[in-house]
Amino acid sequence: NPSQWTEPAMRVGFVQNNPVFGNVQKNLARVEKLLEGQSADLFVLPELFATGYQFKNKKEVQGLAEQVPEGTTTNALTSVAKKNNTFIIAGLAEIDKNHVYNSAVITGPNGYIGKYRKIHLFDTEKACFDPGNLPLKVFDIAGAKVGVMICFDWRFPETARSLALLGADLIAHPSNLVLAHCPQAMITRCLENRVFAVTADRVGKEDRIEGEALKFMGKSQVVDPDGNILVRASETEEEVQIVEIDLEKARDKFLTPHNHIFEDRREDLYC
Ligand code: ACM
Repeated sequence: NPSQWTEPAMRVGFVQNNPVFGNVQKNLARVEKLLEGQSADLFVLPELFATGYQFKNKKEVQGLAEQVPEGTTTNALTSVAKKNNTFIIAGLAEIDKNHVYNSAVITGPNGYIGKYRKIHLFDTEKACFDPGNLPLKVFDIAGAKVGVMICFDWRFPETARSLALLGADLIAHPSNLVLAHCPQAMITRCLENRVFAVTADRVGKEDRIEGEALKFMGKSQVVDPDGNILVRASETEEEVQIVEIDLEKARDKFLTPHNHIFEDRREDLYC
């Protein structure tokens, strides 16, 4: 019951889409349609949501990657953010001079806010993208401190921990999930750090490389600092889901009156 909550409450959601590889205009139009009439403070979209995922090589990425914030995808997202009066965090292929990154853009009703470049590249992404080179950062969004990480970054607990230590209340997690453990593992990331996490995944298949067909598992979700799955999407359907969250939960780092998850860390003994 939201009326019982202390401020600040926030409405967060995800879009789970099924992009057609290489058809940016069609994929952008589809997401705009999915968001029509939907109201939240923040929507998270999947990794590479407008291009598709399975690039064959860096040259192919260079053909579809866009400058951030000047490119078509960032501009389209900013238009949607203005129209829906919301913030959007979405994954896209970014080009900067001769470098390409698996990036996320953060934009809102007043325009472009910032970007994140994936730091832990998965499998064949290493042949297609340059590794992220920007410091982990927390963005001010609708009263929340929001950290951004992309898909496989989940497998390195230092990523979520760093964002939490920087003050993140919520981690926005654009994804294209192919490793089965991620949705459950994100529960642990939230427990470890007492943060919310919005994982936005895609559905469908890509079979662009002989013998390397990929199936994306859906199950986009919002998890709270106590490890509860507030909403989880299907494995096969395009979906938008929204949930109201109480940010105060993420700001209380005490597990018991005697245990503070950051202050109890034994940095003197860790590697
Ligand atoms: C992944 O990082 N897209 C598996």
